[in-house]
Amino acid sequence: MLMIAKIDEILREAMVVIGKVSSRADLEAAKAKFLSPSGSLRELIKGVALLSKEEKPAVGQAINVCKSEIDAMLAAKLVEIESAEAESLLGEAPDPTLSKAGSGGTFCHPLTQIKNRIVEILGKLGFSVADGSEIETEWFCFDALNTPQSHPSRSESDTFYFDTAVAVENVAKSDSERYILRAHTSTVQIRTMLQQKPPIKILSPGTVFRRDAIDATHSPSFHQCEGLVVEEGTNVCDLKATLAFLFEELIGKGCEMRMRPSFFPFVSPGFEVDFRSENLGKLSNRWIEICGCGMVAPSVFKNCGYGDDAAGFAFGVGIERLAMLLYGVDDIRLFFKNDARFLRQFATPML
Ligand code: DAH
Repeated sequence: MLMIAKIDEILREAMVVIGKVSSRADLEAAKAKFLSPSGSLRELIKGVALLSKEEKPAVGQAINVCKSEIDAMLAAKLVEIESAEAESLLGEAPDPTLSKAGSGGTFCHPLTQIKNRIVEILGKLGFSVADGSEIETEWFCFDALNTPQSHPSRSESDTFYFDTAVAVENVAKSDSERYILRAHTSTVQIRTMLQQKPPIKILSPGTVFRRDAIDATHSPSFHQCEGLVVEEGTNVCDLKATLAFLFEELIGKGCEMRMRPSFFPFVSPGFEVDFRSENLGKLSNRWIEICGCGMVAPSVFKNCGYGDDAAGFAFGVGIERLAMLLYGVDDIRLFFKNDARFLRQFATPML
């Protein structure tokens, strides 16, 4: 049968051609030669229509077998090429002095830029950066912050818990203490108060974790910046002036701010802060909720071993939330996708 012989011939030719392939370009060319609409196998398929009813099944089957063998040879070749590429990358000693081809220079991620701005602005008021830990215990994340066992944020559906039970050094706590991924940066208030003596003036930017499903405004990990001041005589006016300075420097002159009473277990009184500005595109001239704050609650001071005369304030801002508002970004996922086309829009020299 002429057709079957032709199919055999194509298969033999494909073995030779694909056998010699050594690059992605060769692979594409080989694929086109045999499988593209004008390739030799496709040409043959067109001829099947002219065959008799009896001949068609055998020829059809032979064509299918031939196509799947060519597909398999191409796939095997691709694996070979990919592993050769990976090996050659491994073999090259990295040159740290080179910037990545096409990267357009080095610049900070937009979230890092916002974080750096906050640290820079509040640095002018004497705040320094304090470090915390992303893996925490329930005591640091909740109990020490006066958050009762029944608080919804402590549920397994809100917070990530490890199975391991732990003993926390020098700290009274319940038997069921477990490791968790911190749900907020307020934990650093406690760590700092246990380590330092007043006056304290710290910022703690960092990653936090919550069991939220991912959508345009939620992510199971995001970033906050906590602020804490502990100093005798500190009052709500100091808190308000600090935040007003932060937002005016961040957003620009003419930015207004207001504080509404609100509840957070670790502050008393507690407030929710809104700002309003005419420089915020679509969101201009509207009150926008931006951070929680308040005067550190007496029970929190007590948990850290401080006396009744201790006074101070704390606040916490969401870095993604600020970045979305300031840059007009409407989907939080864009910050984590690492698409260079998105990130490059925020390219400014590293601070
Ligand atoms: N930890 C709070 C949260 O994640 C934010 C917050 C509210 C921080 C009030 C504070 C504060 O320091 O005083 O939602």
